[in-house]
Amino acid sequence: MSKYTLDFNHYRELARSAIAEGAVLLKNDNQTLPIKKGITVSVFGRNQLAYYKSGTGSGGMVNVTHVTTPLDALKDCADVLLNESLLHTYEAWVAANPFDKGDGWASEPWSQKEMPLDDALIADAAANSHLALIMIGRTAGEDRDNTADPGSYTLTDTEKEMIEKVCKAFAKTAVILNVGNIIDMQWVLEYNPGAVLYAWQGGMESGAGLLDVLTGKVTPSGKLTDTIARSIEDYPSTVNFGHEDTDIYQEDVYVGYRYFETFAKDKVLYPFGYGLSYTTFSTDVLAASETDGQIELSIQVLNTGEFSGKEVVQVYVEKAQGVLGNPARSLVAFAKTNSIQPGKSETLSFSMPVSDFASYDDGGKTGNKSCYVLEPGTHRIYVGTDVRTASPCMEYSVETLQVVKRLSENMAPVTAFTRIKPKTSQSGYSVSYEDVPLRTVDIHQRRQGECPKSGGCTGDKGYKLADVYNSKVSLESFLEQLSDADLACMVRGEGMNSPKVTPGTAAAFGGVSDRLNDFGIPAACCSDGPSGIRMDTGTKAFSLPNGTLLACTFNEPLLEDLFEMVGLELRKNQVDTLLGPGINIHRNPLNGRNFEYFSEDPYVTGKIAAAQLRGMHRVGVTGTLKHFSCNNQEFHRHDLNSIVSERALREIYLKGFEMAVKEARAYSIMTTYGAVNGLWTAGNFDQNTRILRDEWGFRGVVMTDWWAKMNDEGHAPAKNNTAAMIRAQNDLYMVVPESVVNPFDDNTLSSIEDSSLTRGELLRSAANICSFILRSPAFERVLGVDNAVEVIGQVQEDAQEFVFNGEYRTIGDGESVDLLGIDTSTGSSYMFAAALAQSGLYEITITARSSASELAQMPVTLFQNVDRSTTFTFNGSGGEWVAQTKQMFFFNKYVYLKLYFGLAGLETKDLQFKLIEPFSMKDS
Ligand code: BGC
Repeated sequence: MSKYTLDFNHYRELARSAIAEGAVLLKNDNQTLPIKKGITVSVFGRNQLAYYKSGTGSGGMVNVTHVTTPLDALKDCADVLLNESLLHTYEAWVAANPFDKGDGWASEPWSQKEMPLDDALIADAAANSHLALIMIGRTAGEDRDNTADPGSYTLTDTEKEMIEKVCKAFAKTAVILNVGNIIDMQWVLEYNPGAVLYAWQGGMESGAGLLDVLTGKVTPSGKLTDTIARSIEDYPSTVNFGHEDTDIYQEDVYVGYRYFETFAKDKVLYPFGYGLSYTTFSTDVLAASETDGQIELSIQVLNTGEFSGKEVVQVYVEKAQGVLGNPARSLVAFAKTNSIQPGKSETLSFSMPVSDFASYDDGGKTGNKSCYVLEPGTHRIYVGTDVRTASPCMEYSVETLQVVKRLSENMAPVTAFTRIKPKTSQSGYSVSYEDVPLRTVDIHQRRQGECPKSGGCTGDKGYKLADVYNSKVSLESFLEQLSDADLACMVRGEGMNSPKVTPGTAAAFGGVSDRLNDFGIPAACCSDGPSGIRMDTGTKAFSLPNGTLLACTFNEPLLEDLFEMVGLELRKNQVDTLLGPGINIHRNPLNGRNFEYFSEDPYVTGKIAAAQLRGMHRVGVTGTLKHFSCNNQEFHRHDLNSIVSERALREIYLKGFEMAVKEARAYSIMTTYGAVNGLWTAGNFDQNTRILRDEWGFRGVVMTDWWAKMNDEGHAPAKNNTAAMIRAQNDLYMVVPESVVNPFDDNTLSSIEDSSLTRGELLRSAANICSFILRSPAFERVLGVDNAVEVIGQVQEDAQEFVFNGEYRTIGDGESVDLLGIDTSTGSSYMFAAALAQSGLYEITITARSSASELAQMPVTLFQNVDRSTTFTFNGSGGEWVAQTKQMFFFNKYVYLKLYFGLAGLETKDLQFKLIEPFSMKDS
């Protein structure tokens, strides 16, 4: 019997529960929802026919055979009748106005043209059905932010007209938002639909989970993890968002509700933590006390309504303003009840040390620079079911200033700027500004003083990595056998699509050369993430709900269970770490990658991340927390310098990472493309060594983002400055096409030669990489441990995997691939793996012949990995060989090429490659 069993039925059920629990009901007048049994529903909006399972970019590229849309689920639901005639109208219109996918990476429009509605159609639908569901869709993603324009953050005129007209014609209208993160909601005030539900992007089981909410099988219990303000201009970060070179975090710790609840309550349409239910609850504080700095709360939740359902209790603190100034509310705890029957109650207990609420003094105003402190005064605790209505529950006083933790100055800004600080006024607080404390230490000198001892070089003594595992030799002695060149190779991750690991994945790392393999170091594998396993060969995987949705569940145990399934699926695919969760803060609603991330609040972010990691850790695999830190804008992400105070970094932007490291013992982290306070994060010693490892106790591996840059302070960043990366203890450069040949001309070895990098530093990163590998499934295989995963309940089509025999054909200028005699019947395909001698633009020529008629059309589509690259259409050639040529760009060294034959009748001869323009990552 296998030690591991992956039951897809259970996986689907857990995802379905998460989708239902993450949906946030913002409005539900006169019980518009749930849909009453037996009624007819008219579904409006083209989104019903092309539901977004996730956002775009690396975080959404999970291959699935199907996505269960809400429409599919409604069609299959015996309790609901659909207005078929309206559906046919949409089907016909969408056929004539097909989905616009754009031209590939980051070019898909963030919404699709909506079908204009004529009055007669609406009148007919209203006469023949009882409820209107309006589906609005938005996507967004990596490399391109949202904009504050119609079709992105705001609705288009056609969408508004649809909502306006349908709301007028129907007594009951519910608007369903299939979006990655929050969008503008002004239209709710204008058109007043009966119900509004954020369904987010639910992955491949979207429809199943949503149906449960729509029909009332599950009572909504999702809560907003972001504040929805009246206008995008109301978010204090908007003014600095979207610039090319620098982004000044002037709002400081006043992000999201921390800003609105302190300074601008009236700007909020829907507060943080808000979400309705079909039932009603009352929450009562049964007990609240503070003893020796420990707060204990006992909160009873009573279901006072008519449906059974779950409720989320949220605990906030209002700290004394002190000299530092503090937000009026900060979330410090939350818990979700089980499903409570009407008339029944559940009691939740909370226990937390007040020291957890301390503020960071980055300038020494309290006399304790670089310390977490509790300032004297009255501190109040609020309990409720959203930040706005949470009511005072108890207060405690801090008599004298308490230093909770002494740290040291790290990552402090070097550019002068001012930040928001509350000024007490009669009506509450108003915004004032203060100078941000700047860096006072010489970070270069300090790092040199903390450099590890130089580490020996013993040559091969016959130790294998398994000897470290079996405690026969220390990791240090094992690594001392390796030459500088071996170590320099080890810090180069290889990808994408490295043949050393699971086909189609993002990178291989660790044992990326024969020599390293000879030392018993296997190649470990990572794949995107976070919304499921991305395999660019087309291998299918489970597509998960997006990050925002998962966080809105506020349900840690559920997510832990769900991510145990993810862990099993990683094992099944021989992936050692998922490149996720993504845990950057929703600093501004326009960030294109918000769909991957959780919240504007660091506490929820940390808790949800920890739950996901704990789930994966149950089965011995992990996730890679990303992007460390401040990846809060996609525009110019390679070159953007985020200018942030040390306090905001520690209390907001690093906090989620800290919680996941401390609570779930995270052991893999990815840095970002950009810079924080002038230092590109992949080369930031303060971040990756002093804070992450020395303060938080992180024991694991840190990797760059793919093709990131590093710099030495004051110098331009470069992809080949691996010396800066290693010095900082960012252990892995991700990625190069072939690790063993130093294709980017990185400066690891030359820096050892000129003594700007020590062998000790290089050994330290190699140790971090090996520590990761020692606990990976890849290493279990070296040990001969049977770690096969038994799979049950997988639908047949999802089970089809990419079969690859491990051999790559080397392709270069002038090479050709023999295609004589291959199967070209309708629907057949011919696939091979290619290792390109040189990346760049190629001319690709297919030679083929056919004796079919002159007008016959025989399309041959060439796929590069899963992406359709180009189609050659051949006609009958009277039996003569004819050649067709197209251009194709190859970015990665390793690719899978597939020829797909749309119609039989062709005899193929060969495929020729001619290099037109070489490309080198190191020059880009
Ligand atoms: C993204 C990462 C991702 C990596 C590998 C980068 O473009 O920023 O989040 O994991 O690619 O696909």
